Amino acid sequence: MSETKKRNSFSGSIGFVLAAAGSAVGLGNIWRFPYLAARDGGGIFILVYLILAITFGYTLLTAEVSIGRKTKQSPLTAYGVVSKKFKWIGVLAALVPFIILPYYCVIGGWVLKYLIAYIQSTPAEVAVDGYFTGFITAETMPMIMLFVFLFMVAFVVYRGVNSGIESFSKVLMPILLVMVIGISCFALTISHTDAEGVTRTGLQGLKVLFIPDFKSLTAETLARTIVDAMGQLFFSLSVAMGIMVAYGSYVRDDANLNKSINQIEIFDTAVAFLAGVMIIPAVYAFSGREGMNASGPSLIFISLPKIFAEMGGAGRFLAIIFFAMVLFAALTSAVSVLEAVVSSLMDQFGFSRTKATIIESIIALALGVVVNLGYNKWYFDFKLPNGDVGQILDIMDYISNAIFMPIVAIAECIMIGWVVKTTLVSDEIEKSGDKFGRKNMFIVMIKFIAPVLLAVILLKSLGVVKFN
Ligand code: PHE
Repeated sequence: MSETKKRNSFSGSIGFVLAAAGSAVGLGNIWRFPYLAARDGGGIFILVYLILAITFGYTLLTAEVSIGRKTKQSPLTAYGVVSKKFKWIGVLAALVPFIILPYYCVIGGWVLKYLIAYIQSTPAEVAVDGYFTGFITAETMPMIMLFVFLFMVAFVVYRGVNSGIESFSKVLMPILLVMVIGISCFALTISHTDAEGVTRTGLQGLKVLFIPDFKSLTAETLARTIVDAMGQLFFSLSVAMGIMVAYGSYVRDDANLNKSINQIEIFDTAVAFLAGVMIIPAVYAFSGREGMNASGPSLIFISLPKIFAEMGGAGRFLAIIFFAMVLFAALTSAVSVLEAVVSSLMDQFGFSRTKATIIESIIALALGVVVNLGYNKWYFDFKLPNGDVGQILDIMDYISNAIFMPIVAIAECIMIGWVVKTTLVSDEIEKSGDKFGRKNMFIVMIKFIAPVLLAVILLKSLGVVKFN
């Protein structure tokens, strides 16, 4: 029987939870959450983030998983089934993973390169100035890494929902968790004396992460903290990119959705916190407060390698575990991005899984090559509306994350809150006979609060409102 006729499903709740958590736990948890928490007043950010996770984040995740399970359709086709008028959301929601996949695989290739580098070379060699720039601007190496990373991702998706995505996540996610916990424990034992004779410890660094900094709290810093936490959470849960609709469509009707959604959130938030415990103490001990100004690629590809190099013998071992862990996080996220596009091609055009996977992988490879050329032959600086300057990768990231995602999420809130009504979601959650505990909160959030919060995120991305 052709795969397009019978829809696959996850074998049980655990498979779904780990696959969705695999999508949610990604580079954002590791390279952005710790930085934002340290910058935005430590405990204050953490508290704001937690409150938003159980309200705002929960609402969006619940809405998307329910749309998926109810329609049993891919992102591209699901929204039109819910409401004809909102079919266009599906197009945008499927475009987001289509745009993200190429550059996410480019970054996945960078992670792979660093893992290999630490297996082959000493931490001192990887920490030399210009190592990262030298690598990403090279002609062939980034292309090879992109290809290998994309190939692994495509292989998992090609194997299907059960033997591919589910089995892969069931193996990788528990290992990832153990690795993150292990590195976090190690980070807390660090103590370092710098050239001026000042000793700082990992435990002192931990305070920067968790103790609220009320001294620098003003109305403006609080506003910035809230907007940062919202943006981070939104990205971290992989909502508004079609993924949770696609994964929701593979959940069985008798599964307790509410419970699974809570577990996904707990997993994602726990890994974000642990990433903070892993990174902030180490950065603080070795580089002090100033060292915490790095986030994103410069944090993990430039700042951390310098710390690994200073750690002596343990540095190399730790670096290998760290980059293997980041690779796992990136792989499971990339798998979910590819699946969102592949399922869309299958449902819209009736392609087989194999055909859809091959077509989309070739397109992603071609676009990934363009992204790589953006650091090399086609290098240029582009000023984005939010004030950042970037290359092709950053432009694609900006369009998908900063513009399309908030629009998808706002439209989704309007569709569910006002047009098709919230019973679509509550019926879906209660279908298995389980309780929808936060139903009233969900209704208030999706109708009123979430769209307003999302509008603020959108205005900030467009550079209309600024928080300093
Ligand atoms: N949720 C992932 C993270 O926090 C990000 C992600 C981006 C996942 C794109 C899938 C696709 O890093």
